[in-house]
Amino acid sequence: MKKLSTNNPRRLWYQDAIFYEVNLRAFYDSNADGHGDLPGLIRKLDYLRELGVDCMWLMPIYPSPRNDDGYDISDYCNIDPVFGTLDDFKDLLDESHRRGMRVITDLVLNHTSDQHPWFQAARADRRSPYRDFYVWSDTDQKYRDARIIFTDTEESNWTFDPVAGQYFWHRFYKSQPDLNYDNPEVQQAMLDIAKFWLDLGIDGFRVDAPPYLFEREGTSCENLPETHAFLKKFRAFVEAQNPEALLLSEANQWPEEVREYFGDGDEMHMNFHFPLMPRIFQSLALADRAPIDEILARTPDLPPGCQWATFLRCHDELTLEMVTSEVRQFMWEFYAPQPRMRLNRGIRRRLAPLLDNHPARLRVAHSILLTLIGSPTLYYGDEIGMGDNIQLEDRNGVRTPMQWDDSPNAGFSAARAEQLYAPVIVDETYGYQRLNVSSQEREPDSLLNWLRRIIHIRRLYTAFGDGTLCLLSCENPAILAYIRHNSNQTLLVVNNLSSQPQSFRLNLARWSEHTRAALLDGESGPSHGDFQSTLPGYGFQWYELSTNVS
Ligand code: GLC
Repeated sequence: MKKLSTNNPRRLWYQDAIFYEVNLRAFYDSNADGHGDLPGLIRKLDYLRELGVDCMWLMPIYPSPRNDDGYDISDYCNIDPVFGTLDDFKDLLDESHRRGMRVITDLVLNHTSDQHPWFQAARADRRSPYRDFYVWSDTDQKYRDARIIFTDTEESNWTFDPVAGQYFWHRFYKSQPDLNYDNPEVQQAMLDIAKFWLDLGIDGFRVDAPPYLFEREGTSCENLPETHAFLKKFRAFVEAQNPEALLLSEANQWPEEVREYFGDGDEMHMNFHFPLMPRIFQSLALADRAPIDEILARTPDLPPGCQWATFLRCHDELTLEMVTSEVRQFMWEFYAPQPRMRLNRGIRRRLAPLLDNHPARLRVAHSILLTLIGSPTLYYGDEIGMGDNIQLEDRNGVRTPMQWDDSPNAGFSAARAEQLYAPVIVDETYGYQRLNVSSQEREPDSLLNWLRRIIHIRRLYTAFGDGTLCLLSCENPAILAYIRHNSNQTLLVVNNLSSQPQSFRLNLARWSEHTRAALLDGESGPSHGDFQSTLPGYGFQWYELSTNVS
């Protein structure tokens, strides 16, 4: 199996990569059964390459009863037949690597499906070696300090299983029993599973829900030292199999706690910056950079070799767990005025509807995503500004079929409409008849073509990936300006968070010997002293500050 190697070993590939989250089921259906699949994704790799994607993150691809869209795995070392076969997966790796792209998939460590043979054996027989793979109790009173995550559906983290005659522990749906990481055999089973996929040539994993692996009385059962110890062991094991493999972790926690998931550079390579994400929306709503400033001030430096993953949206609700209850209320009222738009502690809407389909607002949000900090992750469909369907249950409203063209089923599938795993979006604004890849490819200034251009510019400047971040002070609160700097480049980014034109003055005295060259369409000039200018509503500019005299 061909593996990608980094030309310059000191540059770590994920530090300036563009990530793209693929919902395989929603992407492209090659065999007209109404579900997207691996051969379908392979046909669309050139599309992703052209967008500038370096690494795909695939939502779970394993056999599953799909009570939680595949995050309830019943066989970790196989492909759900609806998606194809292991050979199809190997083809995907080959075809992706041939195009210079990498592939990571979700790995759910914390829990299995209740249909997994381990759980079936465990519940059926107290003496089964699998009984101790899960967390059992005669009462539902243990670990009462652990919060409930799926607040809309679950009343307790314990469910009584009449077959087992005991309660079992679960942090998510009751159909997802938590594994017992105090059992060394569970730990070994997960290492074996990781090895299986690494041997096939996979480039790493998105580590699902890592904070919850262990339980201890009197704690929140999150971020425990035992959890970090296991994750370090997992990292060392993965690295021994493939030194370039990536662990991208989903620790939805405050920055100080997330910092622990990087260890001393010996735990997770990357973590999503969950607290930053809602603050980008909050700052846009308030036309005030303060929320972003505050969370960045709380964001610790990372050990060498580590990186943040930033995102605007993903397959889950826009989580408001990492904000205060007042801010949550504000965000709900502003971005989710209808009750149906809310789910658990979040908002089940896609990016374009959240931002009122406002072209300039969508673009400035992407300017921030691509330049502020870390490696950006795009969510499938957001590159064309897809809409959502809040009438669908759970988070399914943001997981509808990709809109490729205006042919039946949005060009996603040749199945009969009623066979599709979910209906395509048909409303006036976001319906596939108007909004699709093919029509945006024909329109030079569409969101898709604009994103392709701006991602390609972003890719030319490594400081956007691994540069330090220095926020610039500015009297105008609607202006979010910063410097990204590494040994190759010094970059200046200025974003207007308000719908109205805003004037600003930035003190660039530190860079007085530099010239300011616009990377987009703005004006270049010397950078001595103050830089004074005006940006249109939601306007932004990117510059390189350099001492090269041409
Ligand atoms: C993660 C996933 C989410 C899933 C949950 C339980 O948070 O992003 O979709 O429901 O884990 O596995």
